[in-house]
Amino acid sequence: MCGIVGYVGERQGLSLALEALRRMEYRGYDSSGIAVNNGGISVVKKAGKLANLEAVLGDMPGTTAIGHTRWATHGRPTDENAHPHVSFDGRAAIVHNGIIENFAPLRQELVDAGITLNSDTDSEVAAHLLARAYNEGETAGDFRASALAVLGRLEGAFTLLFTHADHPDQIIAARRSTPLIVGVGEGEMFLGSDVAAFIEYTKNAVELDQDNVVVITRDGYEVLNFDGTAAEGRPFTIDWDLAAAEKGGFDSFMMKEIHEQPAAVRDTLGGHFHDGRVFLDESDISETDLKSINQVFVVACGSAYHSGLLAKYAIEHWVRIPVQIEVASEFRYRDPVLDERTLVLAISQSGETADTLEAVRHAKTQGAKVLAVCNTNGSQIPRESDAVLYTHAGPEIGVASTKAFLAQVAANYIVGLALAQAKGTKYPDEIAEIWASLEEIPAKIEELLDVREQMAGIADELGAVQTMLFLGRGVGFPVALEGALKLKELAYIHAEGFPAGELKHGPIALIEDDLPVVVVVPSPRGVKLLHSKIVSNIQEIRARGAQTIVIAEEGDEAVREFANYLIEIPATSSIMQPLLATVPLQFLAADIARECGNEDIDKPRNLAKSVTVE
Ligand code: M6R
Repeated sequence: MCGIVGYVGERQGLSLALEALRRMEYRGYDSSGIAVNNGGISVVKKAGKLANLEAVLGDMPGTTAIGHTRWATHGRPTDENAHPHVSFDGRAAIVHNGIIENFAPLRQELVDAGITLNSDTDSEVAAHLLARAYNEGETAGDFRASALAVLGRLEGAFTLLFTHADHPDQIIAARRSTPLIVGVGEGEMFLGSDVAAFIEYTKNAVELDQDNVVVITRDGYEVLNFDGTAAEGRPFTIDWDLAAAEKGGFDSFMMKEIHEQPAAVRDTLGGHFHDGRVFLDESDISETDLKSINQVFVVACGSAYHSGLLAKYAIEHWVRIPVQIEVASEFRYRDPVLDERTLVLAISQSGETADTLEAVRHAKTQGAKVLAVCNTNGSQIPRESDAVLYTHAGPEIGVASTKAFLAQVAANYIVGLALAQAKGTKYPDEIAEIWASLEEIPAKIEELLDVREQMAGIADELGAVQTMLFLGRGVGFPVALEGALKLKELAYIHAEGFPAGELKHGPIALIEDDLPVVVVVPSPRGVKLLHSKIVSNIQEIRARGAQTIVIAEEGDEAVREFANYLIEIPATSSIMQPLLATVPLQFLAADIARECGNEDIDKPRNLAKSVTVE
């Protein structure tokens, strides 16, 4: 949710932290702030986007800094509630990501001790507790012991960075259920919610476990447990570079990411099929385990959930076992029936989403095998799963998911084929044939990117619409849901996706003159009945005055006369069609967003890239 940076080294901390926050702003952007520790603590913080902070920056010399970009949980986005928070004596500062669940009694304790709290946040208590622990009692004068004492009192999920004026040469940080990565430079050390914070300076990073504390100085880092005993981080090398985190000539990250989709799908497929067989990544789930699986549960949120709906269609069709799909936040609250023959497929771009993580934990307590589909190496969801299949979409900065979604669909299909292979429900030549059509997809997406101009023209003609409906049947239904979600996120207008067959059961009442309705049409070469039924649906809505925006396979003449706008996509097999049909809807959402006055499609209001609170 929030983005955090910490730095100890030789560079000026203020400018370094500002740059890092710029690259992490996608994580939260309702306020931001930086504290520089130069033997005294200076703080600057401001509500609103980072540009507001930049406008008020003064000179704050010092080579140790912590910074924060916020997605509000407790307390409105105001200057006071922005991080860093400074202790009552002005000697300590903290930044926090997560929720301190027991903040209310801690706050009361501070108030009773005569300390004035300056914000409505759950986070501020940590700064005052640190100063109290440092100023008096057993831990007096000992920064590390004071930080550990504070951590021992906190409940909830948090990444916390502590800095103290008496120790300008170090930062102490901790994590519980929220992300924190250490960057290892030469004569300088970094902390970040993700590697984008420091990728410009080093590719050497260290992953931490849950309930780890790390102390960084210029010369190195030390990892501890919350009880102060020694622990170890896991060093790794970052395999993407700064260019991947920058816009590369596009006017938004989202546009760049839409254009990166051919590569995202191609790279995700890479290496998973050779010698006539499908391979998953290394995992603790053996071929024998896979063979014994008799049901699948898919858990995910948002776009990842929509990709999971497609996993359901593919797995049930190819493997002939039941697949249930559940929004992750609902999964564990309804006592799903799982056992050791259940495979739980947990899909998450960030690998941090709290609801999905909790669903994974619940599934494991029930003895199910968990396979994560994830885009972020070393993140929590894959780490707690029995196996992971990484999507290789590269960093996705735009808050609205595009390339990660398509890469998830491709990865889900790999899982489906691996299951079909293990359970023998498809012959090797059938698997090879499906794989061949999957491998053709990146080139077809490439071709389809030219649709951008057509979509911009349609958005131009539609103007600032108030509401839009999206209809699909079969695998077109998740595409309709994803198209509607993109539009809600980006244009802030009402949009809904329906199975086209449901139209007559209620939603048709919404149709009125000029209402734009997107219809995703299945291939005429697939199930004939499905195609003809949707053609009838298009006629029904046209007859009631709607403007139809029809996404159909090239050469599908049956739909032409009923389409106000016809968007033709390359031919492919039915199950692969969502990998293509989604693309024009991504462009449409971005273009309508502009018509509706949202210029910053990378950072839609109220959202954050990864949702690390339940
Ligand atoms: O990181 P995750 O894939 O777990 O995130 C899940 C959703 O929060 C995410 O897909 C969200 O719905 C996107 N903003 C959709 O564009």
